[in-house]
Amino acid sequence: MTVFRTSCRVVIPAAGMGRRMGADRPKQYLPLAGRTVIEHTIACFDGHPAVSGIVVAIAPDDRWWPELDIRTQAQTPLSTVPGGEERAHSVLSALDCLVDHCADDDWVLVHDAARPCLARADLDRLIGRASSDAVGGLLAAPVRDTMKRDDGRGRVARTEERAGLWHALTPQMFRYGLLRRALGEALASGAPVTDESSAVERLGLLPLLVEGAATNLKITHPDDLPLAERLLAAQGRAVGSGAYAG
Ligand code: CTP
Ligand code: MG
Repeated sequence: MTVFRTSCRVVIPAAGMGRRMGADRPKQYLPLAGRTVIEHTIACFDGHPAVSGIVVAIAPDDRWWPELDIRTQAQTPLSTVPGGEERAHSVLSALDCLVDHCADDDWVLVHDAARPCLARADLDRLIGRASSDAVGGLLAAPVRDTMKRDDGRGRVARTEERAGLWHALTPQMFRYGLLRRALGEALASGAPVTDESSAVERLGLLPLLVEGAATNLKITHPDDLPLAERLLAAQGRAVGSGAYAG
């Protein structure tokens, strides 16, 4: 069993609307392998020995969260904050709410609500490696396919060098003070912030790439749900039997 010398807060941005999914509710509340997507996501951290608390950013008008069993069943302290307009605003809102509970050098893990298939081994590897790094880091998967740049008219302009390219995944793990400053400054400057790493990179720092499985997919389109069900079943994490057709 891995012994962790670090204690982390987990921030889960879950205030998106899931427009690309086109469902009758935000994708994090869709049923998946016997529970909701977000309950599987929270379960990745609930009870983990290195996690001291979980904060979930939800939309101010969210009416699905109060229905979830995990609210009362979680072993790790679980709270919510109102999310914001973009993902980065939601994460910053959670960090702001932690101001009286976190020291600047406390570790924070940020993980998308829409990534329920995070493997425990990947989480443990990230915590182990990033917590001994001066900057922090993120899970990422090396790009496998040959990469093409288009010409803007649907034709290949050129083939991009694949070596050294990574898909940025979550969790992303940084110290509380650094991350709050990085996100605050990036948002104030109007810079695009699609993940925590990009905000930290803006400060001239070089986050650590920790290789993780590409199966840590972000549920985005309807086709992703049956795939996520199969991945959870393969991890032995489907709840109940007959909840899905493998
Ligand atoms: N998110 C958030 N606050 C926002 C927008 C997104 O907390 N204002 C969260 C989503 O709930 C999701 C994660 O950020 O867990 C990644 O975002 P994405 O996959 O883009 O989700 P949505 O924005 O909900 O989906 P879409 O872009 O298709 O509308
Ligand atoms: Mg989005």
